Amino acid sequence: MRVKASAPGKVILFGEHSVVYRGPAIVLAIDRRVEVLAEPRGDDLLFIEAPDLGVSGFFHEGRYHPAAGGRRGEGVLRPLWVAVERTMERLGRKTGVSLSVASEIPIAVGLGSSAAASVATVAAVGELLGGGLTPEEISLLAYEAERVVHGTPSGIDNTIATYGGGLVYERGKGMERLESLREIPLVIGNTGRSRSTGELVGRVRRLREKYRTLVDPIIDAIAHIARLGREALLEGDLWRMGELMRMNHGLLWALGVSSPELDRLVNAALEAGALGAKLTGAGGGGCMIALAEPDRLGAVSTAIERSGGSSLRAGISRSGVRVWRVEG
Ligand code: PMV
Repeated sequence: MRVKASAPGKVILFGEHSVVYRGPAIVLAIDRRVEVLAEPRGDDLLFIEAPDLGVSGFFHEGRYHPAAGGRRGEGVLRPLWVAVERTMERLGRKTGVSLSVASEIPIAVGLGSSAAASVATVAAVGELLGGGLTPEEISLLAYEAERVVHGTPSGIDNTIATYGGGLVYERGKGMERLESLREIPLVIGNTGRSRSTGELVGRVRRLREKYRTLVDPIIDAIAHIARLGREALLEGDLWRMGELMRMNHGLLWALGVSSPELDRLVNAALEAGALGAKLTGAGGGGCMIALAEPDRLGAVSTAIERSGGSSLRAGISRSGVRVWRVEG
């Protein structure tokens, strides 16, 4: 038997970084997915290939043995090893597995590719071993893998990759699914500079330790923006969303997680008529998002590209993780 599973990437509309401490983040699944093909092996090895990244290798008793791409493969593939191990422990079954990972989501730029890969891996391996995992279990097992990449992530990425659509996520309080969202006219601008979420979360933590009385009000203001952003999103009020995005970017800048490239793309989008623009995800590079009236989206994409970014138009993905058996 062979099984395939896929899961979507995401953009954070409001509330990144503040969500690590308190308050909500608003997140949308995007219609770019990671797909994982899983098949059983005759031995007890885990083989993983990610042809898009030019890496593949084996895990044997927790040790990585590269087949292609050298040791750099270990960084991206180890979380998937964790995802497989946890899934097998949960289901009480162990077997050799080969995984092939194909991604439409650029990696390490804040679009949730690692969580989408972990969620799809858990779902595919779970099905291969007899199935029965609930979405909540899939998300939790994928979170274990996310912890390897990000330290103590808030859990947004694995949650949205599991459920899709739009979510309000609050650490420790769980999530609210936003039903019947209208299409949001968004452009994603990618600086192309990869960064580490864990490192940027650490940067904010250190700033907070140094200037607690300054940083806490900024975190509270971002949390408040996210609450107002939820209302504006549900009302489909693009103007208000735009205004809130601009404020959110300014506050993230104050926390030290923007970058000259991100600011350049944000400013270019606003000059081209975007209603709002902000960095999305951890910052320090990675991606920004711009919201614009549908007839301005083209101009905003062009402005982003002229300023050195690559642009991606993304719709909301209504579906979260999907899993199916493959014949042959
Ligand atoms: O991994 P990213 O770039 O999507 O960032 C996640 C958002 C943060 O709030 C910065 C971290 C977290 O775990 O929520």
